[in-house]
Amino acid sequence: MSTSTWTTHALTTERLTLRPWLVDDARAALDVYGHAEVTRWLSPDMDRVPDLAAMRSLLQQWKAESARLPAPAGRWAIQRNTDDRVIGGAILLPLPPGNEDLEIGWQLRPDAWGNGYATETTHALAAWAFSQDVQEIFAVVRPGNVRAAATVRNNGMHWVGETTKYFGIELQVYRLRAADLDRAAPAALQPPNLSGD
Ligand SMILES: CC(C)(COP(=O)(O)OP(=O)(O)OC[C@H]1O[C@@H](n2cnc3c(N)ncnc32)[C@H](O)[C@@H]1OP(=O)(O)O)[C@@H](O)C(=O)NCCC(=O)NCCS
Repeated sequence: MSTSTWTTHALTTERLTLRPWLVDDARAALDVYGHAEVTRWLSPDMDRVPDLAAMRSLLQQWKAESARLPAPAGRWAIQRNTDDRVIGGAILLPLPPGNEDLEIGWQLRPDAWGNGYATETTHALAAWAFSQDVQEIFAVVRPGNVRAAATVRNNGMHWVGETTKYFGIELQVYRLRAADLDRAAPAALQPPNLSGD
């Protein structure tokens, strides 16, 4: 990763815009991070955000942290293009303790699950990371997080193993290498031999 800091910029996909969080997104963000069905799976640990004031303060904290992150790391709001609604968040963040591995993660409001939005986000963020001198990105999945495990597998990420080294809890590690980026493409962007035709 670069040592210079990066101001998170927007990435656009067919159905989504990934853009920096605004404090004014607090209400939409609370529909994501106020949901225990979302936060229970996150690592590092994150409690459900209890109310709007807490969400606003967390967004302020994320904005300040983002300004100090080395490129291509960041935190993005996921906005749906059809209605401009913020339906979730995504991250590319350095994994502790070494801060050398880069974690990709997604948090969608539950009523947005099942539409392939995490898949679309993965491809956009991976392409962005690989354009910035990063060779591989990692997903760390809590055992039992069936939806996240399906997402990473469907996006061409490879099983690495289980570890407690990142956050002191057992996590399943998956990796996507730059050479496998095509496997992270949404079906519409994949050549026929990868889309199961
Ligand atoms: C993990 C999480 C992001 C996955 O969301 P998701 O919507 O299931 O993810 P995907 O983008 O992979 O979508 C796949 C589903 O969309 C469907 N789908 C619909 N249109 C699709 C399209 N154009 N492309 C791909 N999949 C599509 C797939 O059939 C699949 O449906 P299924 O779950 O019924 O089998 C979401 O469950 C979440 O936010 N969980 C809480 C937080 C969390 O666990 N984060 C990950 C921590 S490691």
